[in-house]
Amino acid sequence: MDKILILFSTTDGHTVSICNRIGEILSATGSVIISSLEDISQIELENADKVLVGASIRYGKHNKNLFSFSRKYKSILDSKENAFFSVNAVARKPEKNDPGTNPYLIKFLKQSSWQPKKLGVFAGKIDYPKYKFIDKYMIRLIMWITDGPTDIRKSFEFTDWSKVDDFANDIFK
Ligand SMILES: Cc1cc2nc3c(=O)[nH]c(=O)nc-3n(C[C@H](O)[C@H](O)[C@H](O)COP(=O)(O)O)c2cc1C
Repeated sequence: MDKILILFSTTDGHTVSICNRIGEILSATGSVIISSLEDISQIELENADKVLVGASIRYGKHNKNLFSFSRKYKSILDSKENAFFSVNAVARKPEKNDPGTNPYLIKFLKQSSWQPKKLGVFAGKIDYPKYKFIDKYMIRLIMWITDGPTDIRKSFEFTDWSKVDDFANDIFK
């Protein structure tokens, strides 16, 4: 049975929900471990047959931990089946929701020495009630500028779960 490692970089947990969904699907094909990429050891990485990394965007950037991880483990990642996906709010827009058109995925590929073999991009979630004051009003401003929802009493999930399922079924075929 293949050992499949699914690693996440998240701030508010939505990327973990996507990893869990992908993990459920991939568990039909191998043994799945889901972990924060900060907590993973070199040995665990070496022991895996397939590695998927998912990371979210905050204030225009993937977390620094994504880049330190991919720099440190590039050669191990390159030696395995591997894939990457990004989660962001911009991807709710049809013209920015695939790896070739999403600005954050394009930027990631320019910045990262690790070039994943398969790529995905998913629209995330805006959960206003959950955010602290500054984040709440900053993301509301970003939403207002980009014609998104601005009602801070509500939560908005933009993720297309059937697209997540298709990605899960395709990545390690
Ligand atoms: C304070 C804040 C800033 C954000 N900045 C951006 C951004 O610059 N661009 C974008 O597309 N999405 C942005 N988002 C949306 C997140 O990428 C989205 O909420 C995602 O689902 C977060 O995933 P996570 O819960 O795994 O961290 C932001 C969200 C918050 C709360």
